[in-house]
Amino acid sequence: METAKIVEKVSAIVILAGKTVRDRFGGSFSTSFKSSPADLVTEVDRNSQSIILKGLSREFTGHRLVAEEDFSEDELRLDDRPVWFIDPLDGTTNFVFGIPFCAVTVCLAVEGRPLLGVTYDPFREELFTACRGEGAFLNHRRVQADRRRRDLGESLLVTGFPSSERFKGEMLGADYAAIFSAAGDVRALGSAALELAYVACGRLTGFWEVGLRPWDVAAGMIMVEEAGGTVSDLLGNKLDLANHISIAASNGLIHDQLIEKLGYLSKSRYENK
Ligand code: 2AM
Ligand code: CA
Repeated sequence: METAKIVEKVSAIVILAGKTVRDRFGGSFSTSFKSSPADLVTEVDRNSQSIILKGLSREFTGHRLVAEEDFSEDELRLDDRPVWFIDPLDGTTNFVFGIPFCAVTVCLAVEGRPLLGVTYDPFREELFTACRGEGAFLNHRRVQADRRRRDLGESLLVTGFPSSERFKGEMLGADYAAIFSAAGDVRALGSAALELAYVACGRLTGFWEVGLRPWDVAAGMIMVEEAGGTVSDLLGNKLDLANHISIAASNGLIHDQLIEKLGYLSKSRYENK
């Protein structure tokens, strides 16, 4: 199947799932926590996931499907088979607290590299898509990372804070004093998938976060790259998909400054687990 057709089919599935997320927003739904009280899952995450799993398994028989709310660590061993990473609701904490900033995001990857990604914001009806070598799009219009800002001092950066204790040390390894004083401004919006999509379309200049999972970032990685931006680990090296991902992404122009100010290059700050 040609990639345009795949994107069309996946987009239809992701939009359908996103509509159920939007319909349940502000209503009542059961919520429980996973690894910690800050790591939430709701019945809406699970409903959205069922829609996506059903849709993808119907369209792509034989592909591996790895979905956030129902995976085993074993499934995360990446090999040369195509695998779909699925986050049925990215930004669950926002959703639970009634903040309409969340997304449904899906990515097809091969050998640890994202090939095609789709992220949908059901509240703004914004569909972000990208395929390797074919560019990045917002509602079918080509987008580019911010071409104007070359300096960290005029940049709007975004980050996030891991809910898991395991990654707090690595998170606090960033040189916050340096980054806050060097950046134009900093946000934490609560959905890595949408934050990366925003970097891809130039609304944000740069992003970093530690301890993410492949379904949080896979679609966003290809969007940023296809939009002319740069994606790397926190040392500025090439980033492949892995079980746990610490990531920096930007318009490319500020990337070296971002990595330098984050301070992980000074080894004592980097606890790469
Ligand atoms: P989620 O809403 O799908 O859980 C916010 O900083 C980002 O971190 C969101 O993309 C959020 O995704 C993700 N996140 C929250 N808890 C996480 C966890 N335990 N492991 C990895 N990523 C997590
Ligand atoms: Ca999720």
